[in-house]
Amino acid sequence: MIQKAGKSIVILTGAGVSADSGIATFRGAGGLWEGHRIEDVATPEAWERNPALVWRFYQLRRAALATVEPNAAHRALARLESEYNKSGDRLCFITQNVDNLHERAGSSPLHMHGELARLRCERCQHVFVNLDYLNPSKFLACDKCTNSRVRPDIVWFGEMPYFLDDIYKSLRTVDLFISIGTSGVVYPAAGFLAEARERGARTIVNSLDEPGNLHPRDEFLPGRASEVVPALVERILEGDF
Ligand code: OAD
Ligand code: ZN
Repeated sequence: MIQKAGKSIVILTGAGVSADSGIATFRGAGGLWEGHRIEDVATPEAWERNPALVWRFYQLRRAALATVEPNAAHRALARLESEYNKSGDRLCFITQNVDNLHERAGSSPLHMHGELARLRCERCQHVFVNLDYLNPSKFLACDKCTNSRVRPDIVWFGEMPYFLDDIYKSLRTVDLFISIGTSGVVYPAAGFLAEARERGARTIVNSLDEPGNLHPRDEFLPGRASEVVPALVERILEGDF
């Protein structure tokens, strides 16, 4: 039950929320991401230089979605979202994650870095959901124009994240900002916490390690998201906010 009306919550999740479902986070040992340097697979230049490698990398990650399940953190956030939607209060749910575990738990977050489930034609900009075509060694042609290959609908380094207007609008009125499982080093997302703090919001941060953007004013809840987030959601729904 929501105790206080008229509040505005912004939630930001990162790779840590899906770590307990078995999806590897980005910043592993030595700056390698599943054995690849980020600049070799997650930039427009990489796609220009070696599209076969980039396609293969994302096709494997797209295929891997079928092998994972949402965890207790995804489910708790979906519950928070649905309680807020019922109450008429404002909740803006942002994820940097490109997996589909939030929606499979019942949420509808803004995927600011795109989605593995979607593909996009570079020529005609046609975007479509497709998790059926998972061949890692053959491109898929656009069925709306003559272009011989579509790309993953992922926001790569150097590209503009999605939904920034909506996100900054929410940050202008936020009362409670919750950051979960993100290292706080990739901008602009890493700057949302400071925006919320400066606007006077209460700020709560969960992660295994202290994120790069943590401030002494933030309430830091260390630990695994699948353990910390359900308890946090319970607290919020009981009115501790
Ligand atoms: P990172 O891999 O940079 O950081 C993951 C964070 O999650 C770290 O702070 C970990 O301490 C924390 N963590 C790990 N396991 C956890 C667990 N079980 N519970 C809670 N926290 C845990 O991932 P992001 O910050 O999401 O961009 O990375 C930001 C962006 O960089 C990504 O969206 C991606 C990447 O390049 C694109 O793909 C465009
Ligand atoms: Zn096209």
